Amino acid sequence: AYNERESLYIVLNFAKEFFVKNLLTEEGKAIGLSYFKERGFTPEIIEKFDLGYAMNGWDYLLQAAQKGGHSTDLLLKAGLILQKEGDASRFYDRFRGRVTFTIHNLGGKSIGFGARILTQDKKQPKYINSPETEVYHKSDILYGIFQAKKSIREKDNCYLVEGYTDVISLHLAGIENVVASSGTSLTENQIKLIKRFTDNITVLYDGDAAGIRASLRGIDMILEGGLNVKAVVFPEGEDPDSFARKVGSAAFSSYLADNAQDFISFMIGLHADDAGNDPIKQADLIKQVVQSISKIPDPVIRTVYVRQSAGLLEIDEQIIQAELNKIYLKSQ
Ligand code: CTP
Ligand code: MN
Ligand code: MN
Ligand code: MN
Ligand code: MN
Repeated sequence: AYNERESLYIVLNFAKEFFVKNLLTEEGKAIGLSYFKERGFTPEIIEKFDLGYAMNGWDYLLQAAQKGGHSTDLLLKAGLILQKEGDASRFYDRFRGRVTFTIHNLGGKSIGFGARILTQDKKQPKYINSPETEVYHKSDILYGIFQAKKSIREKDNCYLVEGYTDVISLHLAGIENVVASSGTSLTENQIKLIKRFTDNITVLYDGDAAGIRASLRGIDMILEGGLNVKAVVFPEGEDPDSFARKVGSAAFSSYLADNAQDFISFMIGLHADDAGNDPIKQADLIKQVVQSISKIPDPVIRTVYVRQSAGLLEIDEQIIQAELNKIYLKSQ
């Protein structure tokens, strides 16, 4: 007999293969495959990432899975179906009429899905994702880690993006050391997962206010985890996917190389527009940088950053150190 986790992996694999095969149906070709083609996704990348299509109907997966001997109880536990409101004996597919992105665990097993809407319907969420299940813990996994791990180790760096399509576009551009936080705040466990392969993370979040805020939060989390962090800012309104398609693979790679900044320069850059010579804003910036430095667990590395930030901010090292001491005194 299989235990429950094993059964979940089996039914999730069934769903993955079902969604993948759906791309070859008339509906799947006309809607799903053509959507992927429009985005420049090749057959190879579709296969590499197990991209698929959930048919536009109430119970395509449910019917097929039941025929395949999978119980509704298991489908529910896998997050693949939902219980009908007011009638707990009736069920329907969670993912309907959407392209699907398979989420793999580190070993390559299918553990969940993200499913993107294909219309401009603003009343529906752009993505519907698998819920937490016994095998899918969102805070423990990063999208793309299975496809990226070898390259992360080889390059000794991991690019961190927001979205599913950013991961895929980077692969298309020849960059394979990339994972996505899937629009949620980075967690300690996700950073530990990356740390198994490298100590270096480069944050590539969307070029909008939300992306910048998320970068700042992410940077502090990464520093707290004892890793080195850089960040790249994209032009307003662009994300790594849109920007890579706009400028092409070669220019995109050069952009990353030319614009990866250490976190101190990144923060200074963000303030550059409004800070100018305003002493209050300048003080805010210094405090923000010191806050981030205070997250670094290793005192030797902290000292290096104290020196570096003093240089970049053009103030005395001792002032930075004094600010840092204030933070530590407060937290005691
Ligand atoms: N996301 C989500 N649910 C939403 C919106 C976003 O789960 N309603 C997650 C997805 O993982 C998505 C990521 O947050 O990939 C980033 O969101 P966004 O930048 O809005 O989407 P993109 O990945 O850029 O998707 P696309 O290019 O298809 O618009
Ligand atoms: Mn668990
Ligand atoms: Mn975004
Ligand atoms: Mn985006
Ligand atoms: Mn996008």
